[in-house]
Amino acid sequence: MAGLEVVAGTRVHTLRLSELTTLKVGGPAEVWEVEDTAGLVNATAEPFLVIGGGSNLLVSDAGVSERVVRLGRSFNDVRNFAGQHDVWLGAATPLPGLVRRAQKAGLSGLEGLLGVPAVLGGAVAMNAGTRYGEMSDTLQEVELFVNGALERLPADALQLSYRHAVLPPGAVVTRARLRLTPSTPAAVEATLAKVDSARAGQPKVKSAGCAFKNPPGDSAGRIIDAAGLKGLRRGDAMVASEHGNFILNLGAATAADVVELVSAIRKELSRVGADLELEWRLWGF
Ligand code: FAD
Ligand code: EPU
Repeated sequence: MAGLEVVAGTRVHTLRLSELTTLKVGGPAEVWEVEDTAGLVNATAEPFLVIGGGSNLLVSDAGVSERVVRLGRSFNDVRNFAGQHDVWLGAATPLPGLVRRAQKAGLSGLEGLLGVPAVLGGAVAMNAGTRYGEMSDTLQEVELFVNGALERLPADALQLSYRHAVLPPGAVVTRARLRLTPSTPAAVEATLAKVDSARAGQPKVKSAGCAFKNPPGDSAGRIIDAAGLKGLRRGDAMVASEHGNFILNLGAATAADVVELVSAIRKELSRVGADLELEWRLWGF
């Protein structure tokens, strides 16, 4: 990180977004780390993008010209979550810790999110999940910073569906109210074990999760696999041999490599009449 500068309620860094994304590609940006409402007011005074865990992003090698707003530690409530079944949590709370703490407290509802390396705000914005459950199962209400002030909206207003939420333009999710269901640690652990085994075939190498959304009734990974594209490679970006919908960064991949690979996959799929929609959010293209 370079160029640390302090503006009320924020810390401003210039850094490469490869440092903040799980795919580890992406060029420079001015990152405004925000700790309070005054910080949000300052950070959002110019065009901005919001980053969560960076686990669903493909960022261009040239970076982005917008400010990148990142919620800081004061929005991370993982340690404040002590088994309340109806609870407001900050949007920078990491899901892995939350899922584990809910299990220990014997609270059910978050099991389907096991293995999703997001923070709560990003998981709400994407309605993250698996076939064992998604964010919408427990989300009751959100707090948003929008048009210079905080407001609350019921979860219904976000029209949550498969990997999709409708947020007001320019909104930053700051907190979310979740309602969990009392269960037992053992019962929750049993469900977690099922979710874990459903994910056993997924690669462990750097990625941004599944690149494409599943078309209704099918799996993008199965389609890419059936087209014989596993192992297809451009530079250090490669279609995983374990799962066709994961694009891996083998070490030194650039965004350009990843874009070329996505184009090559699409070209090959068009030969078999398949057209997949990207799940990733693209920044700077
Ligand atoms: P980011 O990637 O940082 O951002 C994603 C989008 O959300 C961007 O448009 C961003 O602007 C917006 N956003 C983020 N925070 C906020 C906020 N506070 N307010 C407003 N907008 C915001 N996803 C699944 O659904 N299921 C899976 O099983 C799954 N498995 C994965 C496994 C791996 C190994 C990886 C790397 C990813 C996986 N993903 C999965 C993808 C990813 O974790 C999800 O899409 C997740 O919701 C992204 O959250 P994030 O916090 O990383 O958001
Ligand atoms: N399959 C293949 N070849 C492959 C991959 C999958 O034949 O290379 C087949 C599997 O054998 C299985 C079917 O396709 O019969 C479904 O595969 P899998 O169970 O792996 O689920 P998926 O539909 O590919 C979805 C989500 C994942 C989530 C898993 C687990 C999407 C795009 N993907 O994958 O989410 O973790 O289910 O529930 O919805 C993500 O969104 O980033 C993500 C990783």
